[in-house]
Amino acid sequence: MIHIENNVFTLHTRRTTYQLKADAHGVLLHTYYGARIGSDDLSPLIQLVDRGFSPNPNELGRERNYSLDTLPQEYSSCGVGDYRMPAVVVQNADGSHLADLRFQKYETRPGKYALPGLPAFYGAEADTLVITLEDHVTRLAVELYYGVFEEYDLICRAARIANHGGASVQLLRACSACLDFPRDDLDFITFDGRHTMERELCRTPVRPGVQSVGSVRGTSSHQHNPFVMLCERNADEDHGLCFGAALLYSGGFEAAVESNQFHDARFTIGITPHHFCWTLEPGDSFTTPEAAFICSPDGFAAMSHRWHRAIRTHLCRDPYKGRRRPLLVNNWEATLFDFDADKLVEIAAAAAPLGIDMLVMDDGWFGTRSSDFGGLGDWTVNESKLPGGLEALVPRVKALGLDFGLWIEPEMVSEDSELYRAHPDWAFHAPNRAPSRGRSQLVLDFTRADVRDYIYDTLCQVLRNADIRYLKWDFNRSLSDVWSVALPPERQGEVYHRYILGLYDMLERFHRDFPDLLIEGCSGGGGRFDAGMLYYTPQIWCSDNTDAIDRLRIHYGTSFCYPVSSMGSHVSAVPNGQTGRTTPLETRGIVAMSGAFGYELDLSEASPEERAIMKRQNEDYHKYYNLIHFGDYYRLTNPFENERYTAWEHVSEDKREALVSLVKGTARAALPCLTLRLRGLDESLRYRVNGEGSWLGGTLMHAGYPIPTGGGDYRAIQLHLTAE
Ligand code: DGJ
Repeated sequence: MIHIENNVFTLHTRRTTYQLKADAHGVLLHTYYGARIGSDDLSPLIQLVDRGFSPNPNELGRERNYSLDTLPQEYSSCGVGDYRMPAVVVQNADGSHLADLRFQKYETRPGKYALPGLPAFYGAEADTLVITLEDHVTRLAVELYYGVFEEYDLICRAARIANHGGASVQLLRACSACLDFPRDDLDFITFDGRHTMERELCRTPVRPGVQSVGSVRGTSSHQHNPFVMLCERNADEDHGLCFGAALLYSGGFEAAVESNQFHDARFTIGITPHHFCWTLEPGDSFTTPEAAFICSPDGFAAMSHRWHRAIRTHLCRDPYKGRRRPLLVNNWEATLFDFDADKLVEIAAAAAPLGIDMLVMDDGWFGTRSSDFGGLGDWTVNESKLPGGLEALVPRVKALGLDFGLWIEPEMVSEDSELYRAHPDWAFHAPNRAPSRGRSQLVLDFTRADVRDYIYDTLCQVLRNADIRYLKWDFNRSLSDVWSVALPPERQGEVYHRYILGLYDMLERFHRDFPDLLIEGCSGGGGRFDAGMLYYTPQIWCSDNTDAIDRLRIHYGTSFCYPVSSMGSHVSAVPNGQTGRTTPLETRGIVAMSGAFGYELDLSEASPEERAIMKRQNEDYHKYYNLIHFGDYYRLTNPFENERYTAWEHVSEDKREALVSLVKGTARAALPCLTLRLRGLDESLRYRVNGEGSWLGGTLMHAGYPIPTGGGDYRAIQLHLTAE
């Protein structure tokens, strides 16, 4: 709900309030964000004090206690007296770097705004507010968009920057949002890592100066995720004020927090300003990606529940936002590049009796690709591996009762490919320089419509020739040598962002033309695991690390923002290919089933005992599907702090059913007995645990449930609770 009175704009969600005010000088102040309160004007909380070295706007004459440098602002301008991080930086035609943004007008609209060509939350039940600011000299206008989803406490923001003046302007920084807090006694939580070990939680106190995470790789990256949090120092799963911020963007980003001289904090999030320079000719505009915020007055768990629901229902799109995801077997870790049609059919035949829904043929099916040195770009079937092509293979798999899915990496080209030999200029490279290779491959210039059209058309032919239900869309390097033959030198600063717009254009075309196709995102696992991709690909391969114990940490970090339905997660063989660790098959199943579940091993080699376990796992996955995919997810332990065991829980919305999963660490003798306290249950309901006993919800939550000791390394336990 949006309440507007005397230029005070109060955005109410069910549990939070966000307020801004255009003051008498036209400065858009940020007055409050936190637990839900009324709609009173909160600007009297801002005390005006004469501060040395904090300049005063010229129109204030001798007045010295009003300074942009000390006021909490909604979208900070640049070069006119605020020395904290600007939301926008420009270079005007006269060479100055000034933008003094003042309030012009506002409008409200029913429903959630959309952003052309960019991913965004959607929903008719949301409300939109648009506030326009303008620099009266250059006539650079900034439209600030707000989308308010009451039920999820979700506030979405974006900015459209338009040149209404008569001279060109260069945008050097254009944040999606800026958020000022009248305090800096906060922690900054980020999710950092590397290829095969993504999204490890890092929590640090906000300290004087700027702290930031981001990516200059052209992707959202394995290294830092475009979801971050700010929270009170004592905040934990159940207590304390916390704010989550997600950028719906799959390219380079920056999320930064600055504590200033008076211990106020400013947070900004948006496209990385590194290599960014966008020219706005008179009449042009630039729209930032969307940033989304959820504030929880009562800890992390409640915040995560709202992110999960909002992403599942208002970001992921039909038909797969509600449709059951296929339980799949992927041949990558089973065969790597070394497979043929008979091998795939053998795996499918072994999968069918286990209740597996789909076979996914991974990398190596096209062109001359027999290793990662060649073939990318040639999206025609390699008939020496697959005689008769997909037209012959897919019916064989379907005859066994499985659907068929396919791996692609459309944004890449190998130098050893027909495509590269015909169009070397289609790959990113700068004049007179040989481009760096990543995984021995180059990146296609997706800023160019002709390049995208060609790739799209060749992939369409593949999709139209066989019954393909799923694509795994991979991306296996970071960008380098970014320069486009299609743009003049002065516009090369636009290439990184235009690349992402090209990617989104391609994904949107697939969504439009193949509405039933499920696309799983992937970038060497979780290198592009972001809310932007989830608009097009409702699940993303979480990590190239399939080790169940490492996955506990990866899933933990990922779960703060992203729902389990988004996390591609498979059982693989042991010893694990990434870590060399051997874990029980039951444990691998329990870990992977809290995600978009599947297998990644040669099922034809599984023993009868293993097959019996897998069959049970698949039955359990179907039995618990709604609970896992649509229930509330509780982190019961933090695997970064507790090495003895990791536990998590899914609770149905009506609290009548829950599934608790617990994985132990390495076994040790004579450990203390373990009592696990559950969460999210109804205190007054009685529950049966795995069909036995009668436990009061309050008892299970406050006193706990006894977990049997022993059992060896990495043993897992699952408890299914049903209300009596
Ligand atoms: C990286 C992916 O994450 C893997 O699962 C696999 O698809 C390989 N690429 C194939 O090259």
